[in-house]
Amino acid sequence: MCGIVGYVGSKDCSDVLVNALSKLEYRGYDSAGIAVFENGDIKTVKTQGKLKDLEDKLAAEYKPQGHIGIGHTRWATHGEPSDVNSHPHSGARVTIVHNGIIENYLELKEFLTARGRSFLSETDTEVVAQLLDYEYNGNPLETIQKVMQQLKGSFALGIMFRDFTDRIFATRRESPLIVGVAENECFIASDVPAILRYTRDYYLLEHDEIATLTTEGVSFVDKHLRPITKELKTADWDMEAAEKGGYAHFMIKEINEQPEAIRTTIMPRIRDGLPCLEECGITVESLKRFRSITIVACGTAMHAGMVGKYVIEDLARVPVVVDIASEFRYRNPIVGKDDLVVIISQSGETADSLAALRLAKQKGATTLAIVNAKGSSIAREADMLIYTLAGPEIAVASTKAYITQLSVMYLFAFELALAKGTVSAAECKRLIAALIKMPDAVAHVIENCEEKCKFIATKLVNADSLLYIGRGLDYALSMEGSLKLKEVSYIHSESYAAGELKHGTISLIEEGMPVISVATQTDVIPKTISNIVEVKSRGAKIILVCTDACARGLKDGVADYVVEIPHSEELLMPITAVVPLQILAYYTAINRGNDPDKPRNLAKSVTVE
Ligand code: F6R
Repeated sequence: MCGIVGYVGSKDCSDVLVNALSKLEYRGYDSAGIAVFENGDIKTVKTQGKLKDLEDKLAAEYKPQGHIGIGHTRWATHGEPSDVNSHPHSGARVTIVHNGIIENYLELKEFLTARGRSFLSETDTEVVAQLLDYEYNGNPLETIQKVMQQLKGSFALGIMFRDFTDRIFATRRESPLIVGVAENECFIASDVPAILRYTRDYYLLEHDEIATLTTEGVSFVDKHLRPITKELKTADWDMEAAEKGGYAHFMIKEINEQPEAIRTTIMPRIRDGLPCLEECGITVESLKRFRSITIVACGTAMHAGMVGKYVIEDLARVPVVVDIASEFRYRNPIVGKDDLVVIISQSGETADSLAALRLAKQKGATTLAIVNAKGSSIAREADMLIYTLAGPEIAVASTKAYITQLSVMYLFAFELALAKGTVSAAECKRLIAALIKMPDAVAHVIENCEEKCKFIATKLVNADSLLYIGRGLDYALSMEGSLKLKEVSYIHSESYAAGELKHGTISLIEEGMPVISVATQTDVIPKTISNIVEVKSRGAKIILVCTDACARGLKDGVADYVVEIPHSEELLMPITAVVPLQILAYYTAINRGNDPDKPRNLAKSVTVE
């Protein structure tokens, strides 16, 4: 995890670095630091805490004056969050920032210790800084190359050499890194939003390439130090999209952006009323041959896969397995040339999902990536690719990425069902017409349920533990509702298939325990209601998220609080039903005094195992 930045230009470097880091805090926020060339020397300021703490330190103590430097925001891996473990780290002639994990750092540390080197921090990064210093031969590119040959693991590095005060260097393996360019200035960053205030033009650094940044421009070499030219890319995300735009938090802003995100994601993929994924490398012909589908992802993305399973199996009659990426990659999964493996990821950099993708390819399966971050590793390595066009998601808790993942799952399921001949073109057109209505339906739900959810959240604030229950698609959705609540409110919560409760879990129910039940699927609503009555009669407080049709059929007293959402095409109900669950989680976090954008212990992009 972690975010790294670098700047070479004529602006106040400390200000630019801090501003750029503020766009990367989603990657980690337990410490921050910068290093800047000042009068031929490298000045470093770093601190445990959020970026705000670094800003305070720069204002109160000392702010390096210069125009060239590097910066870092940390999510601790090796060594607790502390001033000394914060980046940048230095050897005598080298200072670096690092995102990733050096797997052989202990070996390298022993090697250096045996040669008289000592270390201040517990980090793997300081080992790299010392190794660079140890191998330094007066030529930075040769030195970096020599060190990279010795490193195992993942890294994106920003590097300053004391002898070269007019430039910084950058390289990467596995961890992401871009190089931004503007007139007479250039940047490095772990992600595009960091540079958008200054430029939209950037290069994607590939594995083991090295960039040299000076005010004259950027040059690149490959791992053999041969000069290379690279394609300049232009970001289509603007600054405003990466800012809060008047909302108190990114999470609620992103919830409100969902109608637009769905629209942007689905509309370019619909032609003549039918799904059209040709641009993504998917045709009806190519889908016919798949015997089974395995969906692999982590967290929220995996929950989108769960909804996908129900929908694909229902419409296309193809068996679907949903697997957690960290399990899939270590259990010799049964996938081969007749199978499709779908990897879902917002960041496109999740280490386990990326490893799962590589394993699936190795086993001969065809891979399809459903990814939000453009040009990310998963996007680049998969055989087929559908981008979710949600725009940058900054809040750690995923909302608009999830809803666009669902939208893509529907498009894909419809296309597959057409390919398999299990759904007629006419039926598919009917489903697509219903999908096109979903952005407005989501907007309607946001507008009409926010106040209700805000009120219900006041009833959850003191809960120690709660349950989410549902059946079928409502169960798949409950998983996401439960994760959303626990990650931002820190209240323990679990999701259960409603019919499974009485096989053990119902013993947890006691007076006043909140149970959130989702009931949108007509065929199982009576069964779910029976389960609700069972927990209610044992003291549970029932919060029911259901369709208006279901609410009308309820007997008084079944639920303590009801959030009604308009009934629409039932297969598509997760798209609207997730909204109250997201809003409920958001306000519960606020009521408990938590920062919903930066929940404790989490980071947005999980690039370590
Ligand atoms: C929860 C959340 C995480 C991610 C998971 C996978 O709100 O965001 O559970 O869904 O870490 O991340 P990506 O989608 O980037 O692979």
